[in-house]
Amino acid sequence: MRHLLDTQTLAREDALRILDVAEDMADTQRREIKKLPTLRGKTVVNLFFEDSTRTRISFEAAAKRLSADVINFSAKGSSVSKGESLQDTAQTLQAMGADAVVIRHGASGAPRTLATSGWISAGVVNAGDGTHEHPTQALLDAFTIRKRRFGDDSRGRDLAGVKVTIVGDVLHSRVARSNVWLLTALGAEVTLVAPPTLVPQDVTGWPVEVLYDLDDAIAAGPDALMMLRIQLERMNAAYFPTEREYSRRWGLDARRLDALGVDSIVMHPGPMNRGLEISAEAADSPRSTVLEQVTNGVSVRMAALYLLLAGADAPTTETTAPAGTAKENTR
Ligand code: ASP
Ligand code: CP
Repeated sequence: MRHLLDTQTLAREDALRILDVAEDMADTQRREIKKLPTLRGKTVVNLFFEDSTRTRISFEAAAKRLSADVINFSAKGSSVSKGESLQDTAQTLQAMGADAVVIRHGASGAPRTLATSGWISAGVVNAGDGTHEHPTQALLDAFTIRKRRFGDDSRGRDLAGVKVTIVGDVLHSRVARSNVWLLTALGAEVTLVAPPTLVPQDVTGWPVEVLYDLDDAIAAGPDALMMLRIQLERMNAAYFPTEREYSRRWGLDARRLDALGVDSIVMHPGPMNRGLEISAEAADSPRSTVLEQVTNGVSVRMAALYLLLAGADAPTTETTAPAGTAKENTR
């Protein structure tokens, strides 16, 4: 794998390979010494033009746990405010020896431009571009669903027949898009639920069912209910009458939580607007996988960086070096 730009063009076998390597990585993360020597000598640059808590920190943790050097760059406080372009910024970082660039950018397509422009030779990972895609989020979501369903027996499994319902601001959500492509490629049945104003126009071409009523969607018995954040920062118009009205019709409150099947999980990529799309009861309930998703994000990002930088042909066992080896090599 040279780059990880989206899930729409990610082959099913590559997705399963990432999820399986992430299982190996998760095993190593349960050890006392979490660090592996695998990417020693490699440099990962986190290039963030948009705010982030989880994604930026988990890419940093992932790279460090694989012994790569990490350079964190946020546009805020950088020469981007003096008008420096993406090309010049990226080439500057490449000149400092980046082997992989993890980029989050407000413009849909910026990671692909970086990967295909010839400006840099580093591998590129999309950490969220505009309303387009957030592939590692979808991979960690798929990993979480698979793990909850199959536990230690997850390796090699797809999500055939698993019902996933994605609720909320689909229009502005790169998480929804990446999940639609990935989850359906893995065999899941995906339903979208949103106010009509927050359903993208091109949804007719997506492999999903669209509903407008959350209670109907819950009555259909989803295995996973994924709540999306209302992305107020991307809204330039009124997409729903009031927040109270949105919450009443499309929010996951205690009553709807009770109506969910006992084995259904509640997911949210974070950050959450508590009280708007998700109630505190739902966010903090034992069915909520919100923090599990964050933990799994580190393993999935370790797998992505490993496959990008150590090469697809590198033996996976290298990542599961015995604890003694890891200890010895990380002093
Ligand atoms: N953190 C995710 C993203 O950056 C989801 C969100 O912000 O709502 O796309
Ligand atoms: N889920 C997610 O991408 O979170 P951040 O925006 O905090 O990185």
